[in-house]
Amino acid sequence: MPIDKVGVVGCGLMGSGIAQVVAQAGCHVVVREVSDELVAKGLKSIEKNLQRLVEKGSLTEAQRDQTRGRLRGTTSLDELRDTDLVIEAIIEQLPAKKELFAALDKLCPKATIFASNTSSISITEMATATQRPDRFLGLHFFNPVPVMKLVEVIRTITTDPKVFEEIVGFAERLGKTPVRTSDRTGFIVNRLLVPYLLDAIRALEEGVGSIEDIDKSMKLGCGHPMGPLTLLDFVGLDTTYYIANVMFDEFREPRFAPPPLLKRMVLAGWNGRKAGRGFYDYTDPQNPRPMQLK
Ligand code: CAA
Repeated sequence: MPIDKVGVVGCGLMGSGIAQVVAQAGCHVVVREVSDELVAKGLKSIEKNLQRLVEKGSLTEAQRDQTRGRLRGTTSLDELRDTDLVIEAIIEQLPAKKELFAALDKLCPKATIFASNTSSISITEMATATQRPDRFLGLHFFNPVPVMKLVEVIRTITTDPKVFEEIVGFAERLGKTPVRTSDRTGFIVNRLLVPYLLDAIRALEEGVGSIEDIDKSMKLGCGHPMGPLTLLDFVGLDTTYYIANVMFDEFREPRFAPPPLLKRMVLAGWNGRKAGRGFYDYTDPQNPRPMQLK
């Protein structure tokens, strides 16, 4: 039986995007947040995205309505009890994730597959909170989820190969391009991306170039859609700092060590676009201005 009922836990930036693409692909989705306000906020952003697709002509009004009809928000974990697959996209904190998966493990039938959208926490360690390490894996989407084609599918040494291939097929059903990878912190993308982003901050610290020139160089010199400092603001400096620390803990290699400027910006709360400032000031979001950081 193909996967039909999907639970998504967390309806923030990633969770809402995941819920949207899964519902658009024809599955029934129950998305859970911890408060009514957060459920409403997440569903509102999905609604906005669907409406934008209708306006652009890439979704008909009928398809939008069908997608809406397959999507339900809740604050109750109980409503995920009869799902075929649960995708977790909550805060990047191991204790919170383990607690959630332990509760889901008691609630869901043995056949339900558990997946985490974590970008850096060990999938194997999360699986230890459950009695189903064979039906547990990583499913890592990229921001913005409705746009980015890639999904990393992450196996642990305990993941059943059949379950792994089933989820590779599921990612294809979502219209995504899956890549197969193993449970090594950072997987493929962040293993390569994080040292690059940290190096861009080091280049700025050393005065190699200004914020704008570093970004311009990688956009125009390498054809990247965003320069590294713009991308850092987009991903979130706090998120990058967290991932870098987890990777440094795992590998003990200087290339993953967060540079002092990143740490200080996170301490100051300059976490990027969502905070209104990071390497750029977003007072006018259409026209970000580089910050004076020295
Ligand atoms: N939600 C839905 N759709 C969105 C969107 C969003 N948040 N943001 C942009 N779009 C859509 C637009 O509607 C537009 O669609 P059409 O082409 O159909 O009109 C399309 O994306 C392009 O958008 P724009 O023209 O507004 O702007 P752009 O060309 O600069 O593209 C971008 C925006 C797609 C974000 C592009 O700049 C980009 O690819 N940036 C790099 C993003 C990236 O690297 N993401 C990965 C981050 S790392 C990560 O997520 C993992 C981790 O673990 C940290």
